[in-house]
Amino acid sequence: MTRIVLFENIHASAKEVFVAAGFDDIVTYAGALPADQLLEAMRGAQVVGIRSRTHLDPAIFSALPDLQAVGCFCIGTNQVDLEAAALKGVPVFNAPFSNTRSVAEMVLGEAILLLRRIPEKNARVHEGFWDKTADGAYEARGKTLGIVGYGNIGSQVGILAESAGMRVLYHDIEAKLPLGNAHATSTLKKFLAQVDVVTLHVPGGRETENLMNAEAIAAMKPGAILINASRGTVVDIAALHRALKSGHLSGAAIDVFPTEPKSRDEPLDSPLRGLPNVILTPHIGGSTQESQENIGREVAEKLRRYLGSGTTKGAVNFPEIAYHEQMGAARIVHIHHNVPGAMGALTNLMGEYGLNIVSQQLQTRGKIGYAITDVDGEVTDQFIEGLRAHPVTVRCARV
Ligand code: NAI
Repeated sequence: MTRIVLFENIHASAKEVFVAAGFDDIVTYAGALPADQLLEAMRGAQVVGIRSRTHLDPAIFSALPDLQAVGCFCIGTNQVDLEAAALKGVPVFNAPFSNTRSVAEMVLGEAILLLRRIPEKNARVHEGFWDKTADGAYEARGKTLGIVGYGNIGSQVGILAESAGMRVLYHDIEAKLPLGNAHATSTLKKFLAQVDVVTLHVPGGRETENLMNAEAIAAMKPGAILINASRGTVVDIAALHRALKSGHLSGAAIDVFPTEPKSRDEPLDSPLRGLPNVILTPHIGGSTQESQENIGREVAEKLRRYLGSGTTKGAVNFPEIAYHEQMGAARIVHIHHNVPGAMGALTNLMGEYGLNIVSQQLQTRGKIGYAITDVDGEVTDQFIEGLRAHPVTVRCARV
């Protein structure tokens, strides 16, 4: 019997996947639980599903010996101590691509609206003014979109922008296959001088902190537009504020901020508030009904596959073994300490119990090794108990 506990109002698509796969012991919670209730709610669960507000620390993993896998029904996984999970033999899965399209669509929409100065015109009409003018309003067609960070989201934005008639240039620190008619440019400065709209799709962290600083913003074309739906630390907000006030930039759309409010009631503290032709959104680039549904399905599928066949493809903290059809009479998964002799211990014990290896896959990552072995012969409870008791074993099971 496998118990699955899902927190934080995970989309119903996840439960549908589990039910369709024959799991029926599924407990759902509408929100995140306080730390003192969390452990009790998880006790006895083989699978736990969380989003960003549930924190799983080493103590949780030590207290839950039955836990086999964690699903982060979101993109980020820093709410989970990934190392502690791996050391307890618990792979953690997430949904890195499920909201890619949602972000890309929002960015293209913002580029078009800002080129037409719609945010400003919309506000004026609401205030009762009828400023009917074509001044400062441009079509997207024929303009150049510059994408910084041509990864999952950046490359999708490029495809959408081309279908709106835009030219696409990108700048990435890695060589990337250009999609459609996109072109790579070498230096950021050269790139910034050529584009009408700059959109940022790089990771956060030290490497990209203030990538768009005063110097980079000054290198942008006069009248250009800046869009950031990546991470708040990538743009120097004070420098952007100055560039918008001086008219060097004609507009901006900012979805992510260096410091974001912790709750709905807390106001955003930013000098950009109130500026004309500036779209400010509360980090909702990836937040759509479709992305929530996709996330539910994507992560539940990964968990289902892990439970059903042992595949760890897409795990963020674990040796990855892709799906392959079971051969032979039974499949044994063995998570072990990555030390000399671990595979010997496994195969010797199989020999002792008359199990013949038909197929075997091994991957290691850090301190953990993971083997999926398909065997012919009868896999008895004694064999599983013997393997479990061996000092190299972290976790083992017949799937
Ligand atoms: P990705 O990892 O697929 O792509 C990132 C790209 O940036 C890679 O091609 C990488 O080589 C490139 N890169 C890294 N450092 C660079 C630098 N200094 N200069 C130029 N290129 C650089 O990531 P993905 O999935 O496309 O996400 C992009 C960003 O969007 C991330 O920061 C992510 O956190 C954010 N995001 C924001 C959401 C929102 O709601 N606003 C939702 C989803 C993701």
